Amino acid sequence: MRISEKMQLALVEQIHLELLSINQYLVMASYFLKDDLNGFANFFMVQSQEENFHAMKQFQYLHDVGGSIRISQIPAPISDFHSIKHVFEMSLLHERKVTQAISNIIKLSLEEQDYATHTFFQWFITEQVEEEALVENIIKKLDMIGDNSSALYLLNDELAKRTFNPNPTV
Ligand code: FEO
Repeated sequence: MRISEKMQLALVEQIHLELLSINQYLVMASYFLKDDLNGFANFFMVQSQEENFHAMKQFQYLHDVGGSIRISQIPAPISDFHSIKHVFEMSLLHERKVTQAISNIIKLSLEEQDYATHTFFQWFITEQVEEEALVENIIKKLDMIGDNSSALYLLNDELAKRTFNPNPTV
């Protein structure tokens, strides 16, 4: 099977976005690690692992359908944060951008009658719904916590429990 030139370009661009996501979440983890907020850091380290999983999954698919990739420069991630909530807000903005990019690929796949790519990206669009909901939920919790440091440490402990768990059904 061969994908179109246009789809090859779109998939390569998407893989670059996932590679940027790996780095983005490492930078966010670092922001928390330097203040010993290890639970928050763990949340973003696991997120980075998930992004690596996404990139590898798309990398394999690209080759399965006859494509190839040259990795070009990955943009620098955002690294200036002024609060815990700001980090999560930036994470949400980033995920919305990823969701838009995946939606564009799905739209292109329909235009090109590329049903294999259409099916492949269904998993990712579902994953985006989960990722956005997860971050939105934490932002809500942070709003409720306000400047209550005991509650903040409880959330930190909760996020310390997150583990990397790729969807085993795929
Ligand atoms: Fe790979 Fe968070 O999207």
